[in-house]
Amino acid sequence: MGAWRGLIYSLGLVLAAPAAAQEWVGQAIPAPLSQRPGDPVSGRSIVKSRQTGLCLLCHSGPFPEERFQGNLGPDLGLSVAQLSEGEIRARLVDPSKTNPNTIMPSYFRTDHLRLVAKAYEQKTLLTTQDIEDVVAFLMTLKKP
Ligand code: HEC
Repeated sequence: MGAWRGLIYSLGLVLAAPAAAQEWVGQAIPAPLSQRPGDPVSGRSIVKSRQTGLCLLCHSGPFPEERFQGNLGPDLGLSVAQLSEGEIRARLVDPSKTNPNTIMPSYFRTDHLRLVAKAYEQKTLLTTQDIEDVVAFLMTLKKP
């Protein structure tokens, strides 16, 4: 029994390790970060949210109900057109991989963060499921 407990414990540590699961292939992360498929409806509300996603601080998109949308980044409807699902995921996880000088925050990265308040150490801005939800929503913006 002891050995099993040890095995289960170490499996738990692996699963709980932050930002461990992502596998980069070039500029993309082809595999989903979460078990559950992304939910585009939840993704849309994360993108719109002024607490979590904050995407509309910098981006605009197909959100007729939102009066204030940003123009520091490209329109989300346009920017996803050229990107694969894996590239979109990678842009969210760590945009500095494609543009080291980007002002866009890394939504799922815990290394190399500077000046992070104690409460946010080792925490990512979004969870793996949030990332997948946002990816699923952005994929719906792609024109067929
Ligand atoms: C502080 C500003 C800022 C915030 C907040 C921000 N972005 Fe960005 N984003 C940018 C800029 C600027 C770019 C243009 C490329 C670059 O400079 O990295 C960009 C690029 C992108 C791209 C790739 C576009 C391309 O053509 O390569 C996607 C997709 C994207 N953002 C989605 C999002 C989503 C979704 C959110 C919210 C979860 C978000 N961004 C939050 C500024 C921001």
